[in-house]
This record gives sequence, C-alpha cells and structure tokens, in this order.
Amino acid sequence: MKVSVFGLGYVGSVSAASFAADGHHVVGVDVNPDKVASLNEGRSPIVEKGLDELIRDNAAAGRLRATTDAREAVHATDLSLICVGTPSRRNGSLDLTYLERVAEEIGEALATKDDYHVVVVRSTVLPGTTHEVVIPAVERTSGKKYGTGFGVTVNPEFLREGTAIHDFRNPPLTLVGHNYRSDAEPTQALYAKVGAPVVATSIRTAEMIKYTSNTWHALKVAFANEIGNLCKRLEIDSHDVMEIFCRDQKLNLSSYYLKPGFAFGGSCLPKDVRALQYRAKEVDLDMPVIQSILGSNQLQIRHAIDAVIETGRKRIGLLGFSFKAGTDDLRESPIVILAEALLGKGYQLCIYDRNVSIARLVGANKEYINKQIPHLSSLLCETVDDVLERSDVIVVGNNAPEFADALARTRPDQIVIDLVRVRKDRGEIPAQYRGICW
Ligand SMILES: NC(=O)c1ccc[n+]([C@@H]2O[C@H](COP(=O)([O-])OP(=O)(O)OC[C@H]3O[C@@H](n4cnc5c(N)ncnc54)[C@H](O)[C@@H]3O)[C@@H](O)[C@H]2O)c1
Repeated sequence: MKVSVFGLGYVGSVSAASFAADGHHVVGVDVNPDKVASLNEGRSPIVEKGLDELIRDNAAAGRLRATTDAREAVHATDLSLICVGTPSRRNGSLDLTYLERVAEEIGEALATKDDYHVVVVRSTVLPGTTHEVVIPAVERTSGKKYGTGFGVTVNPEFLREGTAIHDFRNPPLTLVGHNYRSDAEPTQALYAKVGAPVVATSIRTAEMIKYTSNTWHALKVAFANEIGNLCKRLEIDSHDVMEIFCRDQKLNLSSYYLKPGFAFGGSCLPKDVRALQYRAKEVDLDMPVIQSILGSNQLQIRHAIDAVIETGRKRIGLLGFSFKAGTDDLRESPIVILAEALLGKGYQLCIYDRNVSIARLVGANKEYINKQIPHLSSLLCETVDDVLERSDVIVVGNNAPEFADALARTRPDQIVIDLVRVRKDRGEIPAQYRGICW
C-alpha cells in the first residue's frame, strides 16, 4: 500500500519503518526539517533499539522517504496515519493543536485530490475527538464529506518505548475503529504481515480502549508498588508474592472481575481489603490506591440508589438479595445495603432470591436473616412473578439465570434497572431497560 505517516516521533518513526519493512511504500511527514533530513539520510530521528537499521535498509530499498510537504505526501498515498503528539496541558486536558493542524493539512491536500483517501488516527485521543475535531477539520478544509469524500479509522498504538519494534511486530491485537467497512479494509491491509488478531469496533470504542488500557497499566504499577511497600514493612519479599500472585491466571490475571456492574460484597472482599488497610495503618504506611477501593465500591451502591430514585416510582422489586447468584450468604451484600437505603426513604420493596428463600426455610442462613435483617426478611417474596406483579421498577441485583428469563415477562410500563448485565441482548424486554454503567 501507499501510506503517509504524519509525525516522525516515537510512534510515527517506528510505524513508518515497520510498514516499509513489510513492503508498503511509506512517506513520512514532519514539520521538523531535521527529522525529515535524518530519515532521508537513512538515520533514525529518535533513539529506539533496531530502528536505525530498519530505516537505513528501507530508505535504501526506496520504500521509505520523508518530506515536510503534507500536500505532496497525501497526493502520493492512499492512506494517511496521524501520529502527532497529543500532550497534556497544565490542567490535565489534552492539547489537540497538533492533531487538528495535521487534520487540516490533510484536508487541504484532499481538496485537490480526486481519489478516496483514508485518514487513520493513531495518536491517543479521548472518546469523541475523532468525530468532534478530526472529521470536522478534514471536512472544513477539503470541502468533502466524511463517508463519501474520505474515510476515517482509529487505530491506537500499543507499543512501549525501548521495545517498540518488537511490540509493533507482536501486538496483543490490531484495533481498528471505523464506521464503514470500506475504511476498515485498507487499514487492516496495512497489518497483513503482523500476526495479531484484528479487532474491529466503533470509533468511540477504539478511542476508549486505548485509555482503558493505559489507565489499567498505570493502576497495575501503583497496585504492585503499594503491595511491595507493605511487604517490605512486613519483611516479606514482594517479588515472591507478586510472582506467585501472577501465576493465578484464573482470578488474578484474567477477565474475571473486569466486567462493569454492581459493587462487590460478600464475606471476603470487603473484610479483607479493610484488614489489609488496617495493617498498613499500623505500620504507618499510606496506600492511596488500595485505601480508595472501599470508597469507590460504596459510590457504586450510591449510583444504584440514585438510579432507583431517578425513576420517580415507589414500588420497587429486587431480583437477587445475596451478593452473587448461587449463594445464600447475605454478609455485606451490596443489595442488602441498597434495600436498607430504599426502605429508609419510604420505598415499598419486594425481594426475591431463590437461595435466600431456601435458607430462610431450611435454616441454613436463618439466624443471620432473623437476627441481622428482620426488617428485610418480611419483604421476601416467594416467586419471581410475585416481584414482577407488585413492582413498577425491577432491579436486577445478581446474575441468577432465572432473572434473565424473567425480564421477558416485564410490562412496557415498568422500568428495569440492571446492575449485573444479566442479559447480553436487550431484545424481548418489554420494560424500559437501564444498565447501571452501560
Ligand atoms: N511514545 C509512545 O510510546 C506512545 C505509545 C502509544 C501511543 N502514543 C501516542 O501517539 C502519539 C504520538 O506520540 P509520540 O511519542 O510519537 O510523539 P512525539 O512527540 O515523539 O512525536 C510527534 C511528532 O509529530 C510532529 N508534528 C507535530 N505537528 C506536526 C504536523 N503538523 N505535521 C507533521 N508532523 C507534526 C512533531 O514534530 C514530532 O516529531 C501521542 O498521541 C501519544 O500519546 C505514544
């Protein structure tokens, strides 16, 4: 393919040289004439292992050159990658000056180009930026319409400086955000020789995934360091701890516990986070990330309470009472906290949870129910349909399989507040459907 790469910094130089190595014809563009000259002389404009050789070989083979002339580069290629910086302003907001300028330059060039051209946003941009900044800038200066005159995709970069060429060759996945198949195909074709799965999604989702990934990476570092600091105070080798911790790929390093939904609860997580926090306090250690976990969890319960209040209805049915399906354990169940808050505000509640009903009857958790939550025990219903019949708002609080089916039996005048994404599809739910964080 014929590709222009705007911005010859860490991302642009590595991408340009690697695409050329895969046989594409690449034109690098930068406003800095020194970087352009350096690339044309076969030298890397940045320090990165292996990049000098890659640029030298591909420049010599005639597949890689650079220019400061945006118009010439756009006219000579079918696709333009935007790899310019999106730095932080002092207040933390993104400085989009370079991004918008490049989009304008590409648009100005497209004004005099007849062929369809795809603009690929590879810089890291917040959700909405491509639609609100890039597309309008190209439309304004090209006089063309997005979707007919030119295409746009979002293709975030996941490389790490220092191992950038290796990371380019071996990415976890190639992410292509797009609105039209005709734009996704040429973007994906760029990566034909990179052996990673291609994941296609919407533009806004692709933008958000990049931030989700980087924030997660930052959180991992902060978490490991806080555990490390506590281990040191307790004279335990933190590397032994984290190495063994990482061997658990079922619960620790996996998609488990990474599904947005309701607060955690039960007899272990809140108690253990609290105890670890207390131990840190005893040894005079601050763990700001870990110390903020329980507060964040309480806020999620608050969001659920607010979602119920916002409906303006008073008759509330709760499907699920224990903190997860398949248990009758009500200790620190966030649904119990939700129910208590609503009861305190004068709402009428009816609650169904198969396991809690059985426990109440056979005595497994009877003592807890009778002693700790007698005020809620009397609100338990015998069947799901009792709850459906007697409520204007139905809150799904855990993932019991019967709740997914029950939603098909709701009425159009009812509101469903789903705290757990009990169903993937929303078809066949007659009630108005609201997810807690989707
Ligand atoms: N550095 C990384 O490891 C990395 C990894 C993944 C994603 N990203 C993201 O990729 C983007 C680029 O990061 P970077 O570190 O490569 O930036 P960088 O600052 O190293 O390079 C940006 C380049 O863009 C050039 N430029 C500015 N305006 C231009 C214009 N109008 N036309 C042509 N070139 C222009 C600059 O001269 C500079 O050479 C950022 O959004 C960043 O967040 C960076």
